[in-house]
Amino acid sequence: SQDVKDDLEEVLFTSEQIQARTKELAEAIDRDYADKDVLIVGVLKGAVMVMADLSRALKSQIAMDWMAVSSYGSGTKSSGVVRILKDLDADLMNRHVLIVEDIIDSGLTLSWLKANLESRGPASVEICTLLRKPEAAKVSIDVKYVGFDIPNKFVVGYGLDFAEKYRNLDCIGILAPHVYE
Ligand code: PRP
Ligand code: MN
Ligand code: MG
Repeated sequence: SQDVKDDLEEVLFTSEQIQARTKELAEAIDRDYADKDVLIVGVLKGAVMVMADLSRALKSQIAMDWMAVSSYGSGTKSSGVVRILKDLDADLMNRHVLIVEDIIDSGLTLSWLKANLESRGPASVEICTLLRKPEAAKVSIDVKYVGFDIPNKFVVGYGLDFAEKYRNLDCIGILAPHVYE
């Protein structure tokens, strides 16, 4: 089978760059939650790699849970219609919740999810995202931890997919237009 990296127009972040930034985010989170118990909530499926690496970079004792949400469609644009495919197992009452995401694109998924989790009686809800596209924002969300701001291009790898492909790339790159045009 062919090398998935052949479908990239450009590598934006290598595995080493992602790990270095993840370590910095983990240090900030360790500091901010030093005297609190935190529940980190990974948003399936895109956030699996971020969760796996960020959680292992943390020194604090944490709990982990998962939610599966997806916006409709398998194209390159998110529709804003969010559905819960798998809900949390944890009760959020009085818990400090940190949502972990791979990317904020339009912001529609996270603004919906943050409001949804805030309605469950938590002590706090904050967001950590590895990537954010400022130019694509359709709603503004308060995000406490951001790995990298990136240009408004379609990116894949390190959990991020195009039609379920490319999630297993260890780097993050811009998908070559010939792949989806
Ligand atoms: C992607 C990505 C974020 C969301 C961001 O998930 O992982 O969760 O879209 O887009 P938005 O800011 O425009 O809402 P997707 O719905 O593709 O599901 P997946 O994580 O399973 O790939
Ligand atoms: Mn996602
Ligand atoms: Mg996706």
